Amino acid sequence: MNDSFRESEARAVLKSLESSYCPAPIKEARERQDEILIERFSGTPYAIADVGCGTGYHGSIFAPTCRLYHGFEISTHIGQIAQERWRNEGLNNAELFLGDVAQSKTPADFYDLVWCLYFTPGNFREPSTNLSIYTDAYLDRNPSFITIFSNFYRSLKPGGLMFLTIYKDVPEAEDAQIDFYEHTNQRVVTPRGGRFVATAENFWSARWTEKSLLSNLKACDIAESDVMFHELNHIAWLVEISK
Ligand SMILES: C[S@@+](CC[C@H](N)C(=O)[O-])C[C@H]1O[C@@H](n2cnc3c(N)ncnc32)[C@H](O)[C@@H]1O
Repeated sequence: MNDSFRESEARAVLKSLESSYCPAPIKEARERQDEILIERFSGTPYAIADVGCGTGYHGSIFAPTCRLYHGFEISTHIGQIAQERWRNEGLNNAELFLGDVAQSKTPADFYDLVWCLYFTPGNFREPSTNLSIYTDAYLDRNPSFITIFSNFYRSLKPGGLMFLTIYKDVPEAEDAQIDFYEHTNQRVVTPRGGRFVATAENFWSARWTEKSLLSNLKACDIAESDVMFHELNHIAWLVEISK
């Protein structure tokens, strides 16, 4: 996929990350996600991978006390913002890995925690302007998602944990997505009622059922018995996966 596709997507992402407007249910889910992770994991010398780390917000929270914090980010511009932020904060244990995380081959049995937050798991797909390729069958067995999380599950130490924040496939989540993207000057191009929302700016964000997430995780060799769905609110889950 050409650079201008990804650059347009990154501009849209950055606008939403920097926007002062955030629909109430999305804001609430994000705050709850952070409360849970901070309560459970801040202050311990873990090795943490942040998949799709954006502008480095979670690195700033966890790197001061964790052993190492690795952020993975596809956008050069967004990655630079994270790097500068961590440098300015003196976080020498926080490192940025730039590139498509679907190409990452991280070491086996390395991380205590892997997380992919703020609905980022729903952004992974083979990029295309032809939205008809994203059928329900595709969403139930998404090749990019499977490549990425097979790799990071392999990279978790035995006993390690992985966390994914995802939208539930409910109309209220779709309403909040559309509201958010329209308020960040994007044009939604998908009809209501599908399982993902796409914009003319190449942003793409899927919603999930328990069944669709479990089916993707099964393809990563992750058993259903190792997966727990924590309710963040009526539109979102924080999914905990143990190894
Ligand atoms: C919704 S934002 C969330 C950012 C951050 N995790 C947070 O909570 O603020 C998703 C981030 O994942 C990045 N991203 C999307 N696809 C990616 C890929 N294939 N490889 C690496 N990063 C990716 C985007 O550029 C964006 O910065």
